[in-house]
Amino acid sequence: MAPSPANPFTPGQSPRFLAGRTAERRRIQDRLARVSTYGELAGPLLVFHAPRGLGKTSLLRAAEAEAASLGFVSVWVACARDQRLLPELAERVRGALARHDALGDPGRATRLEGLTIELGVPGAKVQAELGRRETAAVSTPILALEELLGEAARLVRAHGGAGLLVFLDELHAADPGELAVLLNAWQNLDGAPDAVPLSIITAGLPVTPEAITRAATFGERSSFIPLDLLAPTDARAALVRTAEAEGVSWAEDALTLVTDEARGHPYLLQLLGNTTWDAASPAAGAVLTADDVRRGVPHARTQLNAMHRARWGAATPTEQAFLVAMASAGEGNVTRAQIAAAMGRDSRAISDPRERLIEKGVIEPVGHGLVRFTLPGFGAFVRSLDEA
Ligand SMILES: Nc1ncnc2c1ncn2[C@@H]1O[C@H](COP(=O)(O)OP(=O)(O)OP(=O)(O)O)[C@@H](O)[C@H]1O
Ligand SMILES: [Mg+2]
Repeated sequence: MAPSPANPFTPGQSPRFLAGRTAERRRIQDRLARVSTYGELAGPLLVFHAPRGLGKTSLLRAAEAEAASLGFVSVWVACARDQRLLPELAERVRGALARHDALGDPGRATRLEGLTIELGVPGAKVQAELGRRETAAVSTPILALEELLGEAARLVRAHGGAGLLVFLDELHAADPGELAVLLNAWQNLDGAPDAVPLSIITAGLPVTPEAITRAATFGERSSFIPLDLLAPTDARAALVRTAEAEGVSWAEDALTLVTDEARGHPYLLQLLGNTTWDAASPAAGAVLTADDVRRGVPHARTQLNAMHRARWGAATPTEQAFLVAMASAGEGNVTRAQIAAAMGRDSRAISDPRERLIEKGVIEPVGHGLVRFTLPGFGAFVRSLDEA
C-alpha cells in the first residue's frame, strides 16, 4: 500500500493554498508594480486588519513570496508590546542588504549602522522628542528612519533589485511613539523629491486603524482594508485544493459538514481539515468522508478548548467578569448596556475592560456599541466555566 501523504492542512501556520483574497492580493500587486515599474514609493500605507485567525499573516507571507519572485528585497518585523520596533526594523534592513550584497561601499555600511544606533534611542525619548516639535533634536528619529529606508531602498535598486519591501505584522502592538515616527517618516518619504523604491505593507487586529490615527492624525489617510471571513466558494476551495495537491478528494457531504461548522473562518477550516485528515490517514486517491469529519471533530474541540483556556487565562479578573457578563447575555452580538447590566455597573464604567479585550483580540466591536467573541464557541466555553 502506498504510504499516506503527510497532512497538508496547517492550523496556525501559513496555508499551502491561499484561498480567496483576490481583491486584497490585487491591492498588493498594484503597489509592487508601482515600485518596480517607476522606482517610486507606493503610498499611502497599506493596512490590513482583522480579528485573530482570519489570515492576515498568511496574506502577507503570500505577498512576500510574490515580491521575492519580482526581485524585491523584503524585511519582516512582527511588533510586540514591550519590544522596540524601530531598532529591530533598522537591524533587519541592514541584515537584508548585507545578505543581498547591496550594502555598497564601507562608508555606506557605516552610515547605515549609525542610523541604526540613532534609532536605538529608548521609546520614552522618542515620545518626548515628538512632544517638542520645535527643537532641532525633535526630528532626529524621524530623519534617521527616513534616511535609513530611503538609502536602503535606493541601494536595492542600484544593485538591480526592484525595491525594498517592509512587512509589519501585529502593528496594533507597536509603541505609539515609534508608530508616530514611522508614520512621519513615511509621509516625508512620500513627498520627497527623489523617488524612493519602497513599499510598506502592514497588518494588525481591528484596533489598528484607531492606533494609527491616534499616533498621527494624518495616519487616517492610510489605506485600511478589513479582511473578512472567506466566502463559501473560497472556503470550499481551501479544503479541496489543499487535499487535491496530495491526490486526495472530499465527499460532498463531508465538505458541507466542515464548511457549515467553520462558517468561512480560515483557522477553523484548517483545523477541521487537519483533524479530518488525521482521522482518515488517506492514501493518494482516497476520498475524505463525513464519517472522517465526525471522528476528527473531538480533536478539533480539544484544540479549540485549549485556545479558549489560554485566552481566559490571559484575562484579568475584571476582564473575566466582563467575559462572563457578555457570555451570559447570549450568543452573537451583545450590547454594552446588556453587559453593564449583567455586571451590575454603569455602562460607562465598563470601557476599560472592553477596550483591553478588544486590543487582545478576544472580542471585537461590530458597530453601534455591539461586541462579539472573535473565536467560535468562546461564549459557550465561558458559560461552561460557570457550571463547573
Ligand atoms: N486565505 C486562506 N486560505 C486558506 N487558509 C487560510 C487563509 N488565510 C488563513 N488561513 C489559515 O488560517 C489560519 C490563520 O491564519 P493567519 O495566522 O494568517 O491569521 P492571522 O489573521 O494572522 O491571525 P493572528 O491575528 O492570530 O496572527 C492559518 O492556519 C492559515 O493556514
Ligand atoms: Mg498573524
